[in-house]
Amino acid sequence: MIVDKKIAVVGATGRVGREILSILYGRHVPHENITCIASQKSDGKLLQYGDSMIEVKKIQRINFSEFDLCFFTAGSKISAEYAQDVADSGVIVVDNTSYFRMRDDVPLIVPEVNGSDLGKYKSNIVANPNCSTIQMVTALKPLHDLYEVTEVVASTYQAVSGAGQNGVVELINQIHGADECRTFHHHIAFNVIPQIGDMEENGFTTEEMKMSNETKKILQKDVKVVATCVRVPVMVGHTVSVVAKFKRCVNVNEAKCAIQSFPGTILATSLVTPLAIEHSDYVYVDRVRQCSDNEIAFICIANNLRKGAALNTIQIAEEIFK
Ligand SMILES: NC(=O)c1ccc[n+]([C@@H]2O[C@H](COP(=O)([O-])OP(=O)(O)OC[C@H]3O[C@@H](n4cnc5c(N)ncnc54)[C@H](OP(=O)(O)O)[C@@H]3O)[C@@H](O)[C@H]2O)c1
Repeated sequence: MIVDKKIAVVGATGRVGREILSILYGRHVPHENITCIASQKSDGKLLQYGDSMIEVKKIQRINFSEFDLCFFTAGSKISAEYAQDVADSGVIVVDNTSYFRMRDDVPLIVPEVNGSDLGKYKSNIVANPNCSTIQMVTALKPLHDLYEVTEVVASTYQAVSGAGQNGVVELINQIHGADECRTFHHHIAFNVIPQIGDMEENGFTTEEMKMSNETKKILQKDVKVVATCVRVPVMVGHTVSVVAKFKRCVNVNEAKCAIQSFPGTILATSLVTPLAIEHSDYVYVDRVRQCSDNEIAFICIANNLRKGAALNTIQIAEEIFK
């Protein structure tokens, strides 16, 4: 249980930080147990926490050793600067950035998929995977358990909130006529940008390589993942189209049953969209089709700020303090 823990949220004013606060409130964590931390510019700002307000403190004012648990969700630079020292002082760190994800001594966890891996590591730091990776591996795991996945081709349709508050503001401004592109390199309103992250030498982007590398680490298997990550003018909710190849022959009805009974997934009974599932914590799986003897195609949709970030982070902490 985390309800009696002293909890720090670094990046509390951001899109993910605010979702973390909303979920902690829903879990009945008292406001006295929560410290909201952000940059100097937010020092003294008040954040709503149910019926109470919590004052934000700039990170430089914080003595981290007084906490039991610290959520880092303020970007990789801040995690790089602070998180290791915080963990070394005995605090459990759940890091939402990409900074620690591929470090050998740090578990990379989606509780429904590989929560049991937590016990294999001695680290005080646990990493939260990339948002598209989380929803894809959650949908894939019941199929992997049945047929053993070998290859995945994934195409993403990722919401602007995946780029934080600035991404959301940029889309709203452009819808109202603004021309400026600061968060995205191209106009995002009424458009589609087929590149997320920086381009690497191999022609894949950093976001695409995250999906590939993180899937291997989470499933503990050398799965070939070919991802194409695309930004679309949606506020919240990522969609991922997946074609997965398996070692064994598949049966689409059996596959659907496995998805339906897996914790964390819902097999859609009518067509779902990011807007329709915005307030849900589940990964919705839809359009499940058999493509060949050993291939299945499906779509999965989830709220990137909740299951893709804040909720998964809190579920990790709950698993640790169980
Ligand atoms: N958005 C998603 O769907 C998603 C999903 C998975 C993982 N993530 C990861 O989660 C992290 C946060 O994402 P977000 O979408 O919440 O971004 P965001 O809306 O831009 O929020 C960034 C947060 O970081 C804080 N921050 C920035 N610079 C800081 C500094 N120098 N010192 C202390 N705090 C600082 C900001 O505080 P101020 O308000 O004071 O600037 C704000 O609270 C990122 O690493 C992102 O990659 C995001």
